[in-house]
Amino acid sequence: MSRQPSTAIRSSAEQAPPSERTVSARQLPEDAPVERSLRPRRLAEYIGQERVKETLQVFIDAAKKRGESLDHVLLYGPPGLGKTTLASIIAAEMGVSLRVTSGPAIERQGDLVSILTNLKPGDVLFIDEIHRLNRVVEEVLYSAMEDYAVDIVLGKGPAARTMRINLPRFTLVGATTRLALLTGPLRDRFGSVLRLDFYSEEAMEEIVVRSASVLDVPISPEGARALAGRARGTPRVANRLLKRARDYAEVRGEGAITDQLAAEALRMLDIDRLGLDDIDRRILRAIVEKFGGGPVGIDTLAAAISEETDTVMDVYEPYLIQLGFLQRTPRGRVATGGAYAHLGLEPPALPSQQTLLFGGAKR
Ligand SMILES: Nc1ncnc2c1ncn2[C@@H]1O[C@H](COP(=O)(O)OP(=O)(O)OP(=O)(O)O)[C@@H](O)[C@H]1O
Ligand SMILES: [Mg+2]
Repeated sequence: MSRQPSTAIRSSAEQAPPSERTVSARQLPEDAPVERSLRPRRLAEYIGQERVKETLQVFIDAAKKRGESLDHVLLYGPPGLGKTTLASIIAAEMGVSLRVTSGPAIERQGDLVSILTNLKPGDVLFIDEIHRLNRVVEEVLYSAMEDYAVDIVLGKGPAARTMRINLPRFTLVGATTRLALLTGPLRDRFGSVLRLDFYSEEAMEEIVVRSASVLDVPISPEGARALAGRARGTPRVANRLLKRARDYAEVRGEGAITDQLAAEALRMLDIDRLGLDDIDRRILRAIVEKFGGGPVGIDTLAAAISEETDTVMDVYEPYLIQLGFLQRTPRGRVATGGAYAHLGLEPPALPSQQTLLFGGAKR
């Protein structure tokens, strides 16, 4: 609760709106410049996500061998795991240009048609937040993806006629944090649908060490491990923690991130040993203390902690679920025995929903 960081760290923490905390997986304005420099450029530099990498490597090699464009790829997973990074890697590996846009940015059919007709053969078109495309625009995408053509209507009323414009063969790379919001027809038009998972601790450590070396910040192996362990399996969070620790180490130390300086910086940021911060703990505590451990509906829960439902679902929940602290059930969210233990509380006595879900382990 008391987040009273030192001068170096306070400046960035204070700029962030309430929901944009240090451990938020969502991109903050401060991230953009650093992310560009830290972004791996080739598949071989991309750490972790072995299954995704392997699949992509096979598809890329096959497409190159046949001299064809790569089939459309859909990437999905929580924010900050490397979807945008992968899109640019795909373009680099294929040796083509990357065009970047996003679902909400394409308002009318004409916007999309103009993007599509300006593509060169083989180009990668990256559409971020593809689940937010409006339906009318989405329909243009169907024929573009399938037939490499778009039909445009010329004129109005009885004189109107349609004209088909052929497009170059291109690769659409779509990214979404919410696969469930994608329509069936759109999803079916992707040749591969790849899921990004939270990174393992080893991969996170590698990422911290790599980022530190790119940023030219000396860091001890223990310091790297401490940051990696609290970065919620999310490279974006790891990079942000690294920057905070660097600031701290410059002000309080000699510049190098030692074990001790990393620990102090994390303590000051109020990030616990699992990478949970005050808001995560508030979510868990709300379920436990206000709703008897759950189940509680997501809207009610979000209101109880004064957050937006979407933010809770996209940003906080995935990691709490991954840790096994929270479960989504048809009747709502439930705090698990692990959540009680992490908060230092006793799980409720029988009988309750907890028993139904976790009673098995108690026998
Ligand atoms: N596998 C990786 N190895 C090293 N660094 C990575 C890796 N994946 C991501 N990163 C780092 O994390 C940052 C965030 O990644 P990226 O922007 O690709 O995430 P994203 O999934 O597109 O997030 P969002 O859902 O918010 O768009 C990048 O700048 C990059 O430095
Ligand atoms: Mg992105």
